[in-house]
Amino acid sequence: MGFRCMFKVLAVFAVTLTVTATSVAGQAKAGCQSNCGNTSIPYPFETGSTDCNISKRFFIRCNTSFNPPKAFLTTSDIEVLHISLNGYLRIQYSVGYDCYNSSGSAYYFYAGFRLSKFLISHTRNKFTAIGCDTYAYVEGFTGRTYSTGCVSFCYDVADLVNRSCSGIGCCQTALPKGVTDYELSFDSYWKHSKVLSFNPCSYGFAVEDGAYSFSVSDLSNINFSKRKFPIILDWTIGNQNCMEAKMDVDNYACKQNSDCIDPENGRGYLCKCLHGFQDINECETLKPCSGTCHNLPGSYNCSCPKGFEGDGRKKGTGCNPKVKQHFPILVGTLGIGMSLLFSLLCCSWVYLGLRQRKLNLLKQQNFKQNGGVLLREQLSKREEYGGIAKIFTLEELKKAMNNYHESRILGRGGQGTVYKGLLLDGRSIAIKKSLIGNQNQVQPFVNEVIVLSQINHRNVVKLLRCCLETQVPLLVYEYVKNGTLFDYLHNATHTSIISWEARLKIAIEAVEALSYLHSAASPPIIHREVKLTNILLDENYNAKVSDF
Ligand SMILES: *[C@@H]1O[C@H](CO)[C@@H](O)[C@H](O)[C@H]1NC(C)=O
Ligand SMILES: *[C@@H]1O[C@H](CO)[C@@H](O)[C@H](O)[C@H]1NC(C)=O
Ligand SMILES: *[C@@H]1O[C@H](CO)[C@@H](O)[C@H](O)[C@H]1NC(C)=O
Ligand SMILES: *[C@@H]1O[C@H](CO)[C@@H](O)[C@H](O)[C@H]1NC(C)=O
Ligand SMILES: *[C@@H]1O[C@H](CO)[C@@H](O)[C@H](O)[C@H]1NC(C)=O
Ligand SMILES: *[C@@H]1O[C@H](CO)[C@@H](O)[C@H](O)[C@H]1NC(C)=O
Ligand SMILES: *[C@@H]1O[C@H](CO)[C@@H](O)[C@H](O)[C@H]1NC(C)=O
Repeated sequence: MGFRCMFKVLAVFAVTLTVTATSVAGQAKAGCQSNCGNTSIPYPFETGSTDCNISKRFFIRCNTSFNPPKAFLTTSDIEVLHISLNGYLRIQYSVGYDCYNSSGSAYYFYAGFRLSKFLISHTRNKFTAIGCDTYAYVEGFTGRTYSTGCVSFCYDVADLVNRSCSGIGCCQTALPKGVTDYELSFDSYWKHSKVLSFNPCSYGFAVEDGAYSFSVSDLSNINFSKRKFPIILDWTIGNQNCMEAKMDVDNYACKQNSDCIDPENGRGYLCKCLHGFQDINECETLKPCSGTCHNLPGSYNCSCPKGFEGDGRKKGTGCNPKVKQHFPILVGTLGIGMSLLFSLLCCSWVYLGLRQRKLNLLKQQNFKQNGGVLLREQLSKREEYGGIAKIFTLEELKKAMNNYHESRILGRGGQGTVYKGLLLDGRSIAIKKSLIGNQNQVQPFVNEVIVLSQINHRNVVKLLRCCLETQVPLLVYEYVKNGTLFDYLHNATHTSIISWEARLKIAIEAVEALSYLHSAASPPIIHREVKLTNILLDENYNAKVSDF
């Protein structure tokens, strides 16, 4: 309960005044229930044991045979839906009806009730009637008798409009001020005979303003008679107005931070909290506790059920099972686990980053080591030879060789392993993974690449490109389809096919190539390992000298 505004109960409750003198509005008296099912019963309304019904007037009967239990006004059958400390309560009440069949009046219920101490709010309700041959009126007693009502006539269902309560099928009127008695009556002009097909009944009810929206289908729905609608009642304290009540100091109920107001409707008075001192039941409005909430004058506290510990507050530690040892260990373990995981992630990220960096550095180093820089310089100096030995990246070649896959090996030799590679454009290449890895050999290797890249003889295997990013340089040659002469001669199935003319042609071509390399090329290139495995055959069985 917020430390807000307080008011005590008046003289009518004098018997218990000693106890309740400083009671706070909205807080159920100790020992009394503060709820009935879903309806909260704030002070000065009471429910529960007879000790609590200070006055029948504020007694709420809780019928627990309903689920959830239902609250009823004192001893009546008027169901209470909501009690507001601002001086009103919402009840629910039945519709009155007057029904006809072809032989005349069939059945009716002229609903009504009499409130001794509450008033029907004249500002928050409307008397409403629906029907197409309908006079509906309310009568009652407010000191004098009163009578009010409305009339609705219609002849064709097509004239009716949903949600429009303006006299055709549906009419509304205000209720007079100060009404405690409410008695419904009906009349009809033609006993609904002209509209029986779509409207056999007239209905009338007081209803909270805005709570009913007219629907054309209600006119023909026999079950509409079972409906109930909310009505707002005003409640006040006592019979005195504020001025009189204030003079009766002992019984004056509006205490600190609250002000007395004379109600718009009827006698008595209400205590209204001053601005900024609203009645706040923190437990209900804030729902601040995850455990049990206790409303206290001026504040609230939270507690945890047995076996749980913590401050019980949602924004605090809440309520946690008392597991003294395991809990911290669990937390510790979790914490350590999380930080380990985090470190691991961090480390692996850093590691991966470093590894990538290292790899890049390595590639650059290899490139340099293998004479890449030298080669590039040389090549740029010899631009007239036009980029014959373009430099491949490792990724391109690895992809082409299917990452040095065994199945791609064409042969192994003294100078390295030769793989078959497939370029993205579909061309085949031969990639020689050279054995050169020695710094001393860099200069000769670079020279060789440069020289070879300039050679363009039809009987010499063409060096297409080279890649120097690996530790071991990779050389890319044209792919020669029919393998080596050695394989060709020693493969039994082929020997019969190769004619002596063909053999001679191959020999001549090989010699021409060697002659060219030795004599025509500048500088001359000496092939130091002329053997059958270094003479390749293309698709037309032309010789291609390789591996020098
Ligand atoms: C009443 O409360 C119960 C559970 O607390 C809930 O399921 C139900 O919808 C509520 N009924 C109304 C009319 O508020
Ligand atoms: C409380 O209310 C009930 C029902 O109206 C009534 O029977 C009973 O006498 C009341 N008790 C007291 C102490 O007024
Ligand atoms: C509660 O409601 C049931 C059903 O309407 C009724 O039979 C019973 O008498 C009521 N009990 C009380 C205590 O009002
Ligand atoms: C009309 O209602 C009355 C009363 O319920 C009944 O006696 C009568 O038989 C009904 N007439 C027709 C035609 O249904
Ligand atoms: C009125 O509303 C009801 C549903 O609420 C609907 O079935 C009916 O067709 C509507 N009638 C007209 C005339 O709009
Ligand atoms: C009226 O209510 C009864 C049972 O409550 C149901 O069988 C019937 O279909 C309802 N009629 C209409 C028009 O809703
Ligand atoms: C909270 O308030 C209740 C009711 O006054 C009291 O019994 C309880 O000891 C209080 N708890 C704490 C933690 O202050």
